[in-house]
Amino acid sequence: MSIDFTALAQKYGTPLYVYDFDVISENYRKLKEAFAGHKSLIAYAVKANSNLSVLKHLGELGAGADCVSIGEVRRARTAGIAPYRIIFSGVGKRDEEIEQALREEILMLNLESEAEMERVEAIAKTLGKEARISIRVNPDVDPKTHPYISTGLHENKFGVAIETAKRMYIRAKNSDWLDPVGIHFHIGSQLTELEPIREAAQIVADLVRSLAAIGVEIRFFDVGGGLGVVYDEETTIDLAQYAETITTAIRGLDLTIVCEPGRYLVANAGWLLTRVLYEKRNGDKRFVIVDAAMNDLLRPSLYKAYHRIEPLFDGSDRGEASPADIVGPICESGDWLGKEVALPPTRSGDLLLIHSAGAYGFTMASNYNTRGRAAEVTCEGGACRLIRKRESFEDQIRLETEPLEEKQ
Ligand code: LLP
Repeated sequence: MSIDFTALAQKYGTPLYVYDFDVISENYRKLKEAFAGHKSLIAYAVKANSNLSVLKHLGELGAGADCVSIGEVRRARTAGIAPYRIIFSGVGKRDEEIEQALREEILMLNLESEAEMERVEAIAKTLGKEARISIRVNPDVDPKTHPYISTGLHENKFGVAIETAKRMYIRAKNSDWLDPVGIHFHIGSQLTELEPIREAAQIVADLVRSLAAIGVEIRFFDVGGGLGVVYDEETTIDLAQYAETITTAIRGLDLTIVCEPGRYLVANAGWLLTRVLYEKRNGDKRFVIVDAAMNDLLRPSLYKAYHRIEPLFDGSDRGEASPADIVGPICESGDWLGKEVALPPTRSGDLLLIHSAGAYGFTMASNYNTRGRAAEVTCEGGACRLIRKRESFEDQIRLETEPLEEKQ
């Protein structure tokens, strides 16, 4: 559908996150279809966009959830995603988180160290519940992406080496309280090349074969997330080739393929809508100051990430377009959303649309500079609705009790 962003800005104010659930549905179906003919579970990486309505929408399409905190597990459950479709990953889980996850009877806990396995075993024993686990293997391949979102090399903190994983599986098999059902790898995010995935899948599939030979029967082959999307002019991985690469790696094995995409499902189904406050020049440099900032969309500041910025006004009668930095009101030089963006002269109130903001946009937002987080709206089948209110000043100070108590 074509979304009337101007009407949405008028109705809900700016900055505003806008999502298109029809695009999410389409993305989900394309990936699911790529795995047709094979048992598969698409466990959406909740961290990319954890709004309950987004989770409910994906859950209704058949998606499960890949979670990295008990908070995310609870979000998935609150949105109606069944426990047997939920995976709990992450390098550091607190005891209470492990306990709650075991009580929820989720599909599996994904473990990232021997120490963690010991904790899970002890807690499972106390609860009298066998823990279904998977182990995150670090296959030591270079995913060729941004170093901050690369995770599959030994120099990263994620997963365990093959030999350690083997030892852990044997230990788990011999435990009354651990049931090793899965194996997992995730080499990085925003991947645009298939080769590293092929390499990793083969390494991990070989491990599954050698485990089978010693009586450890793995049922879930979790290939992580990481499918790249187009922000600028990237060429992305072909889904049919992606699926084929994985099914080829596990040929002859009876495994359910689990994949955990975040960005692929939601990034290009979301936009951040912002209004121009003013323009200024410092010497030769032109700045357009807008009402969204790094607290709303951190990716440019944190990764120098590119997000296409589109003017939603007709500037044809205003003179030549020239390059401008699009910056927010925050007191940091790093507070920018776009560099050298060609724009005609702007006026206060003009709307700019920041593209590809559906993943790691709102979820990485903060209250820095006591700025309330943006509202979120979704559009589906031709109609748009509010799915999260704009955060008020009162919302922000709600948990700070001391000054209020002193007044009373
Ligand atoms: N599975 C695991 C184990 C992960 O660590 C991640 C992402 C995913 C799945 C989902 O990855 P995706 O399909 O979305 O690429 N904040 C960064 C991205 C950090 C990704 C962290 N892990 C960004 O804005 O680019």
